[in-house]
Amino acid sequence: MCGIVGILGRGPVAEQLVDSLKRLEYRGYDSAGVATLEGGVLERRRAEGKLKNLEARLQAQPLKGFTGIGHTRWATHGKPTENNAHPHATDRVAVVHNGIIENFHELREALQKKGTVFATETDTEIVVHLVDELLSQGVAPVDAVRDTLSKLKGAFALGFIFAGHDDLLIGARNGPPLAVGYGKGEMYLGSDAIALGPFTDNISYLEDGDWVVLTHKGATVYDRNNAIVDREIVKHGPTASLVDKANYRHFMAKEIHEQPEVVGHTLARYVDMGTERVVLPARLPFDFKDVQRISITACGTASYAGFVAKYWFERFARVPVELDVASEFRYREAPLRKGDLAIFISQSGETADTLAALRYAKSQGAHTLSVVNVPTSTIARESEIVMPTLAGPEIGVASTKAFTCQLMVLAALAIAAGRGRGELSEADETKLVHGLVEVPRLIAAALTTEPQIEKLAREIAKSKDVLYLGRGTSYPLALEGALKLKEISYIHAEGYAAGELKHGPIALIDETMPVVVIAPYDRVFEKTVSNMQEVAARGGNIILMTDAKGAQEATVESLVTIILPDMAATFTPIVYAIPVQLLAYHTAVVMGTDVDQPRNLAKSVTVE
Ligand code: AGP
Repeated sequence: MCGIVGILGRGPVAEQLVDSLKRLEYRGYDSAGVATLEGGVLERRRAEGKLKNLEARLQAQPLKGFTGIGHTRWATHGKPTENNAHPHATDRVAVVHNGIIENFHELREALQKKGTVFATETDTEIVVHLVDELLSQGVAPVDAVRDTLSKLKGAFALGFIFAGHDDLLIGARNGPPLAVGYGKGEMYLGSDAIALGPFTDNISYLEDGDWVVLTHKGATVYDRNNAIVDREIVKHGPTASLVDKANYRHFMAKEIHEQPEVVGHTLARYVDMGTERVVLPARLPFDFKDVQRISITACGTASYAGFVAKYWFERFARVPVELDVASEFRYREAPLRKGDLAIFISQSGETADTLAALRYAKSQGAHTLSVVNVPTSTIARESEIVMPTLAGPEIGVASTKAFTCQLMVLAALAIAAGRGRGELSEADETKLVHGLVEVPRLIAAALTTEPQIEKLAREIAKSKDVLYLGRGTSYPLALEGALKLKEISYIHAEGYAAGELKHGPIALIDETMPVVVIAPYDRVFEKTVSNMQEVAARGGNIILMTDAKGAQEATVESLVTIILPDMAATFTPIVYAIPVQLLAYHTAVVMGTDVDQPRNLAKSVTVE
């Protein structure tokens, strides 16, 4: 989604604004712009495409103002053109916006009836004109913004600067995150702590409905009822070093290779390595014995982590688990009961559909537990219980290390549920935990298949369609593999339960269709071998991801066999995610796509 930054500086801010926007590139964008105040006059520079185009524009026509706002735009209303790029402005006010103004049609019509002429196709421009109209009537900027905010419906984060007001920066948040940075004689506004990392690590997050008036002296935060409120200032660890690519070509590559370390960090937070017992980082306000049903809700890759966890909860804790994507769950009014456990999984903690689903579950009286990678995120702050993943900032739009850390957390939770419900003995728990303790090492071993996968990727890159098959917990991994491939290489791919092959997809099989079979040697391996025979009999090219025993027992010629380390079958999805991620990554590199910021995608979908 879009990125927002604002600075009340003590020197020229244009360069700092662009630096901050660079740290938001990971959110995905298609144009960018800045506006500053010089001698009280608003000046803008905007450009289509990547930030380097904006930098060239600033090189040619520098801005020297000490007060400014900046924006990276991910187009929702209106094409990704320079004219639609933010900031949007009149002579009196400039605005940057992340999100969607849902009632912009009616507001736009009302303004047009009064003679307002619109220069862009964006919903943001109506905000500019609403504020401008009040300023033209002599209303003070703070009052003009307060009045305008009361008219807006939808999910938005906004930043405003005003002609003639060098010591004023206003921000508002209703949905997409917005943070306030406290500097030395300077004040900042940003979409997240990463954006503000170059300036300060003293940050406070606005809550939904908040708006904030910044001057060089500090910040006054108002809640949705315009009452002055306090928002805690937290010290953020150094984000600067965490958001560079080190010696990797892409953030995604770096994040794939960070997995042994970050999955290990996450494991250590959930397991007492001494006793090899699960120790959850948050006290649960309920007893698993009283939980009659668990619902798991998320989007995209996070939903596939939840799908794997369904198998684990049902197997370890014998509790029924209902799984749904958040965009469906939030509207189908699932009959949750008081005391049910509703689990929400989200890397960003800001996904609009997942947040809405969480709010629905809360309204039904369910316990809400979120598995998030950003503990200060909205989903975290609105959940009854937070189970953090310790993946560190995940910059690549395609989720990798967050996925395996989510699986680690969910595995620990499922074991805790099994113990809590008396379904797992202490010995069972110790055996399972021992299996988890091995995972970081097994991930490192799985990474050694990279050269073989890099070679395979050159074949896959020639394909128009790819099929992924898996059984049991490898089925959600087949779905994840297909998503990874299509979202970064733009090659169409589908994940299927291997047992479903005969019910339709087998019609697709011919020599042009690679079939990736995810099949560790487990109790359903033989069944999957017969699926592979069906594929081979029709000329399909099989890529088999298995272990040494599976490779030996698979009586079918495969184009390529990726051999993963031997391990307990239970937690194979956490380790088999590695070849699946590597295959997508290297195929995308061969295709020459924008691996870290694939077209049309955003890292955090903060609008529905
Ligand atoms: C994953 O590779 C995708 N980028 C996307 O499916 C993502 O998992 C989904 O949008 C959910 O995001 P979240 O985990 O931040 O809620």
